[in-house]
Amino acid sequence: MRAYRHHFHAGNFADVFKHALFARLLVALAKKEKPFCCLDTHAGTGRYDLAHRWAQKNREYEGGISRLWQRRDAPALLAPYLEAVRAENPDGSLGVYPGSPAIARRLLRADDRMVLCELNEKDKDALRKNFARERRAGVHLLDGFQAVKAFLPPRERRGLMLMDASFDRKGEYARVVEALREAHNRFATGVFAFWYPLMEPAALRAFERDLRETRVPGIVQLELWVHPADWTADLRGCGMLVVNSPFGFENEARALLPWLLTALAGPGAGGQRVRALG
Ligand SMILES: C[S@@+](CC[C@H](N)C(=O)[O-])C[C@H]1O[C@@H](n2cnc3c(N)ncnc32)[C@H](O)[C@@H]1O
Repeated sequence: MRAYRHHFHAGNFADVFKHALFARLLVALAKKEKPFCCLDTHAGTGRYDLAHRWAQKNREYEGGISRLWQRRDAPALLAPYLEAVRAENPDGSLGVYPGSPAIARRLLRADDRMVLCELNEKDKDALRKNFARERRAGVHLLDGFQAVKAFLPPRERRGLMLMDASFDRKGEYARVVEALREAHNRFATGVFAFWYPLMEPAALRAFERDLRETRVPGIVQLELWVHPADWTADLRGCGMLVVNSPFGFENEARALLPWLLTALAGPGAGGQRVRALG
């Protein structure tokens, strides 16, 4: 198993971006009465102790959730996400950051369910422990790319898949394109969200070209960066692709990202965009 452990990055700007948007997608799916299934293909451990030495190594959360935690002027669109963070920190001080499974747990209804896949055995054990009393969750030691084949379409015929791959090996952009194609073939009406890092411009151009070539219609591309394009010291920015984006989601993202950008990058730095790919 490769070395990526999300605990080092928990609560950083990329997590805030991803989880704020993920929460909006969950809220949108929960608007219709019919139950849905949330498939989290790269689930991590579900919650992260920020005092742990791994989180303390680079204190990445200080450039992420810490910048939102004390704000009283956050837009209402962020409320579902921020409430999920507050729920993990009932004493009012920020000590624990919720992963995507913990955010989904807050926003699922009684008849919805979630399928959580994680390939690192230790992380899977921690995830299973964290969700042991959650009857709506199934935890699987499984390659997230295989999970697309194993769990789509869900029996509910309504669903949201988050693919949050770790991009710690070559070829991950291509695997994401393949997963998008496969997910759409299997479940044409599913809502799919794919997170990706902003790396070298040439790799991103190839990624966008390959995405267009899938001919999957209506892909919404959302990006936020906190450093300039030539920044190589650490992650400069990230993006999310949303397939079959729910009604209203794109407008919500257009309202949210400028606020997040100012909160996370500071005035005049970084950038953001929302556009249809195709
Ligand atoms: C970016 S983290 C996930 C964070 C989580 N989605 C969240 O938002 O809280 C990526 C996770 O994928 C796991 N992983 C890496 N390769 C995988 C694979 N092929 N299938 C499933 N999980 C994988 C890593 O161990 C890591 O926990």
